[in-house]
Amino acid sequence: MAAFTDRMAPVLLLWLAVCLTGSLAVDRGNFKTCDQSAFCKRQRALKPGESPYRALLETMELTNTRLTLQLKNDKNKVRLLLELYRLQGNITRVKINELKPLKPRYEVPDVLVREPPTEPLSLLSRDENGVVLSLGAESQRVIVSAQPFRLDIMEGRDVLMSLNSRGLLAFEHLRIRKDTFSYLITSAFASVWNIVQSVFSRQADGEPEDANLDNEEEAVVSEKDEEGMWEEMFKSFSDSKPNGPSAIGLDFSLPGVEHVYGIPEHADSLRLKTTENGDPYRLYNLDVFQYELHNPMALYGSVPVMLAHNAQRTTGIFWLNAAETWVDISSNTAGKTVFGKMLDYVQGSSEIPQTDVHWISESGIIDVFIMLGPTPKDVFAQYASLTGTQTFPPLAALAYHQCRWNYNDQDDVQSVDEGFDEHDIPLDFIWLDIEHTDGKRYFTWDANKFATPKEMLQGRLDKKRKMVAIVDPHIKVDSSYKVHSEIQSQGYYTKKKEGGDYEGWCWPGNVGYPDFTREDMRAWWARMFAYDKYEGSMENLYTWNDMNEPSVFNGPEVTMHKDAKHGDWEHRDLHNIYGFYVQMATSEGLIQRSGGVERPFVLTRAFFAGSQRYGAVWTGDNAAEWGHLKISIPMCLSLGLVGIAFCGADVGGFFKSPSSELLVRWYQTGAYQPFFRAHAHLDTPRREPWLFGPENTALIREAVRQRYTLLPYWYQQFYHTYRTGHPVMRPLWVEYPQDPATYALDDAFLIGGDLLVHPVTEEGATGVTAYLPGKEEVWFDVHTFQRHNGAQNLYIPVTMSSIPVFQRGGSIIPKKLRVRRSSTCMEHDPYTLYVALSRQRAAEGELYIDDGHTFNFEKKEFIHRRLSFANNILSSVNLAPDAQFSTRSFVERILILGASKPTKVTLKTAEPAFTDGKTSQLEFEFNSTTSVLTLRNPGMNAGTDWTMMLQ
Ligand code: NOJ
Repeated sequence: MAAFTDRMAPVLLLWLAVCLTGSLAVDRGNFKTCDQSAFCKRQRALKPGESPYRALLETMELTNTRLTLQLKNDKNKVRLLLELYRLQGNITRVKINELKPLKPRYEVPDVLVREPPTEPLSLLSRDENGVVLSLGAESQRVIVSAQPFRLDIMEGRDVLMSLNSRGLLAFEHLRIRKDTFSYLITSAFASVWNIVQSVFSRQADGEPEDANLDNEEEAVVSEKDEEGMWEEMFKSFSDSKPNGPSAIGLDFSLPGVEHVYGIPEHADSLRLKTTENGDPYRLYNLDVFQYELHNPMALYGSVPVMLAHNAQRTTGIFWLNAAETWVDISSNTAGKTVFGKMLDYVQGSSEIPQTDVHWISESGIIDVFIMLGPTPKDVFAQYASLTGTQTFPPLAALAYHQCRWNYNDQDDVQSVDEGFDEHDIPLDFIWLDIEHTDGKRYFTWDANKFATPKEMLQGRLDKKRKMVAIVDPHIKVDSSYKVHSEIQSQGYYTKKKEGGDYEGWCWPGNVGYPDFTREDMRAWWARMFAYDKYEGSMENLYTWNDMNEPSVFNGPEVTMHKDAKHGDWEHRDLHNIYGFYVQMATSEGLIQRSGGVERPFVLTRAFFAGSQRYGAVWTGDNAAEWGHLKISIPMCLSLGLVGIAFCGADVGGFFKSPSSELLVRWYQTGAYQPFFRAHAHLDTPRREPWLFGPENTALIREAVRQRYTLLPYWYQQFYHTYRTGHPVMRPLWVEYPQDPATYALDDAFLIGGDLLVHPVTEEGATGVTAYLPGKEEVWFDVHTFQRHNGAQNLYIPVTMSSIPVFQRGGSIIPKKLRVRRSSTCMEHDPYTLYVALSRQRAAEGELYIDDGHTFNFEKKEFIHRRLSFANNILSSVNLAPDAQFSTRSFVERILILGASKPTKVTLKTAEPAFTDGKTSQLEFEFNSTTSVLTLRNPGMNAGTDWTMMLQ
């Protein structure tokens, strides 16, 4: 322990110094630029227009669903194998690997939910210049040009996307190092492998063993080794590269596209910037201490998915590679003003706008899914068909979470819990950070401060509240710690390159990193969450996975050495998927501990494509600064676009102390973002909502209460995203894809399609200008019910209590208005329906109800209803007649916004269901100033059929 303290001292001192001086800035020197990353530098140095690759058309083979074709690098004579598939749902998959790699290259497992179903391909024409294939329906074709190799995806006469049109395809083939003993060993292995592989691959393809290639293979021309190919230094860290260079790269051109999005996680604008004058966007899961805003540096998670959008079409590129990846973006209209573009047009010098993207990864293969839309929602569905949808969280997880590093002991937890009651602020979860454990040994409790965890948990359970405890994936190396000794004795730790367990430093001191890429390790980890293994845990305790990039305080770039080993693979090959596996195993553990009955809730910091299947994500260690509040919007929007709907940022900011104004504004914003949790650094003063004076307490109370009233809507949205993959928190352009005014908005968002939120994120703001989209739309201020036309910038004066939120005319939103201690206490509460009429005096909405926490909804135990208003008739009809669930909740009030005054309102119910029903006249009130019609106590059960006629 003493040794650890000495070694950790500089790290801790640095931490303390920064906290005390209050100066917040990432130490850029700790993280590589593209220039400092040998493979990125090599690939970025390639010049467009010099592609050495040629498609060998004579090697083409076409089966019903698969095209294969060899590509040859004319410089080094290395051949690649291209495979092309048409997948169901308007997706084209292109895979490129070495035809005969020296040894297998990593192909990412476990991300795709299934082997994607294919559709027929057919040959339309072929000559010496190339081939044209039909992609089935939609008049889509693929043109493969031979020299240089290029692949164009067309629809009618439009090119939707081109691959290698700039000639940046690069595939560093695995090779043998010439100057060492390993040369002999590797070459012997390589020849055996080559023989075995070529026999098997030919047999697998149904090719006769003695088939001669049309085009004789030439010997590979050996190339000059460049610096950084076999070893690379960064600061004092050496990265040995026993496999040598292995990087891959490919360019994509997007004609007609000026707006691209996605590739989280970056603290940057929603619309991605061009990168010509700086570094590419980097995807490499890293624990970046005090991250900076508006730059392309890597952060905690990576989703290699980009969306391209214009008024006609949305497409997507999913680059399935888990190694370190960089993405360059350039555009022929970047930097031009609208005026400049008009001038070009007038002078006839305008070209079609085009965005070019260049993907570069350190190892693995090219495996790219081209999602052809055409609408944004089609792309979401296409991506969901590949990687799955957001797991459907327990309803309570959508409510408010109170966290800090740390709540000191059980009494502290209890008093925080009581504080919420005293101040009448609803709360569902209290969180425990690393200090709750016995010396950062996860799955244990500090014996003095948390001596009776079950008592503590029971206390919360009695009040229908829950807790979350942190479980990080670094394990203290301590022979008396059972978790460690079991992992060690099973051989489950990640290994060093030379063998032996890989160790690094993290919170507990010296730690090992379980190899979560192993299925048996994950199964072991999942079992750790069983109530009898994780002592002191109960059914209302959920889990937080932090530091799972993985964070290694003394590792290169604060993470694991790339030459560490996961079985035969190097960490380099799969770095970005490590955190995904941690959350996967944890979520499985929470499911198993309840015998598969209860839905899990797991928060993760690191993530990859597909992480949506395992829980929620937050944006890591932000700061109590206005810029960080603002960036929470594009950061979560970007995640939503690539499937991760359950996103939030630390409310209040993790580092530093927020002013009361910033804290209030952050609550008001966070209350309308999917994951709503306050969190703060250990060294910051306490900031429970009642510590900033009664006025601010009242403002925070109001924001949290607004969240709770909207829980039925949030829940229904999450059910929808679970079914469809559509994001919950969405950019405006997703709903208004043809309106360019929505393409670059960073300060507003939609929840589902019906609520537009433009939170106040400027210090001292006296007003905000919100863009209300849609020429045909009307929008109702949810607080005043004032009606505004769409397609306008609306100036809204604001005070400290303002949260500008608008309901779309044409929608029906269910709310629960009674104030309770927690969401679970609201279970049987009645609904109020907000019917906002469109210009056509119509509206539609949905109501989804289930038990809120089990998987029984998968067995059709739920209520799903369509609510609609048309021709002065409001009705509720069953959307899922084969589903069965009953609720005690009834409809206690209906507000119709934008209504005119009726003379009478008649309600017809079918209660009890399937009888003749009954008819009654309803009491109502009409406010002619606001045009709001309020129907009081209609009283019908929320799960039944009813109609209401306004006359
Ligand atoms: C880093 C996390 O990002 C932060 O939220 C947490 O409080 C600390 N680790 C301590 O566990």
